[in-house]
Amino acid sequence: MITTTGLTKVYRSARSRGRHVTALDGVDLHVREGEVFGVVGQSGAGKSSLIRCVNLLERPTSGTVTVDGQDLTALAGRGRRAGRELRKARSSIGMVFQHFNLLSSRTVKDNVELPLEILGVSGQARSRRALELLDLVGLADKAKAYPGQLSGGQKQRVGIARALAGDPKVLLSDEATSALDPETTRSILQLLRDLNQQLGLTVLLITHEMEVVKTICDSAALMSGGRIIESGTVDGLLATPGSRLARELFPVGGAASGPGRTVVDITFHGETASRPVISELARTYNIDISILGAAMDTVAGRQIGRMRIELPGSYEDNVVPIGFLREQGLQAEIADGDGGDAGDGGDEKNHRTAGAAAAPEAAGTAEAARGAAPTVPAQQTAPAKETSK
Ligand SMILES: Nc1ncnc2c1ncn2[C@@H]1O[C@H](COP(=O)(O)OP(=O)(O)O)[C@@H](O)[C@H]1O
Ligand SMILES: [Mg+2]
Repeated sequence: MITTTGLTKVYRSARSRGRHVTALDGVDLHVREGEVFGVVGQSGAGKSSLIRCVNLLERPTSGTVTVDGQDLTALAGRGRRAGRELRKARSSIGMVFQHFNLLSSRTVKDNVELPLEILGVSGQARSRRALELLDLVGLADKAKAYPGQLSGGQKQRVGIARALAGDPKVLLSDEATSALDPETTRSILQLLRDLNQQLGLTVLLITHEMEVVKTICDSAALMSGGRIIESGTVDGLLATPGSRLARELFPVGGAASGPGRTVVDITFHGETASRPVISELARTYNIDISILGAAMDTVAGRQIGRMRIELPGSYEDNVVPIGFLREQGLQAEIADGDGGDAGDGGDEKNHRTAGAAAAPEAAGTAEAARGAAPTVPAQQTAPAKETSK
């Protein structure tokens, strides 16, 4: 539904004091129809630039943006100076903002009517549509109120109703819940999820909160320095050894208790979440296992858990137990055990995956292991991809 190829944005403005700032650096994004896709990343990663380029509020420096089969970059104009074709294409893309962007001098209903006015919809049709939309977002009784009389969550509902005025197929949201308290955030996310399901709306949302991704996203991408460094379905990412997004979604802290120990991060999905694998592991190999950290959660309606455990002995000593965990359908990765892998980046190298157990330094032990236990299964593949540039 949304595809960008080689999207690049270089700013040179008063804001950057005449310097060139590369906010987007060759972004290839692919958002499927009907999904909720979250883009996460730290401040300055280029998230807002990406979303503003997707609806041509900003004209990309190079690259293309296709929304619902139409190449927007081929249409003339940008921002407020968009040509007719672009304005028309843009009416099928709704946009929700962090700070709501409501006109304080207009009533709630008049705010929702604004885009319809611009589209030239007649007074009566406009009024009817605005009331429908307010009903859809649960604000039917606030039509005559002014934004100043509403709570933050209510203002954002107005913002969402307004974004839906042109019957968009795509909704873009830039930190729509970042100015809201946790409870209101949940209710707004639920509303977005409902709209996604009831209207078949494709949602591309930008956030710096992992909680948002956990709650409503089907897919996610991690941005850093103007690039997408990881993307895929949330399920796929969670099943991908070494995925940074998976680790950030489920940070499990806990440092090794001393040298000569192996710290392993385990991810449980679906039915494996309810099996007593840890006690089986302890019994089968007669080893003592310490649990250093654990987190259980529901992602897209499915139970997912992560656990960080410590095994006695070196990595080489634990090839067989780790192989056992993987045989049980779990994802098991060697962690560096410093407990600090929650997103500072650049530590991928330290995360060896158990699938690589036959790496040269472990070859001897791995050979021995094969005699004693089933072969360590190959790394699971998942529809996630990592680019390392
Ligand atoms: N209009 C602009 N002029 C100059 N630099 C900008 C402009 N907008 C964003 N930037 C710069 O581009 C980079 C990415 O910004 P942005 O897309 O807002 O990131 P994010 O939304 O992830 O915080 C930052 O370095 C920011 O300072
Ligand atoms: Mg931003």
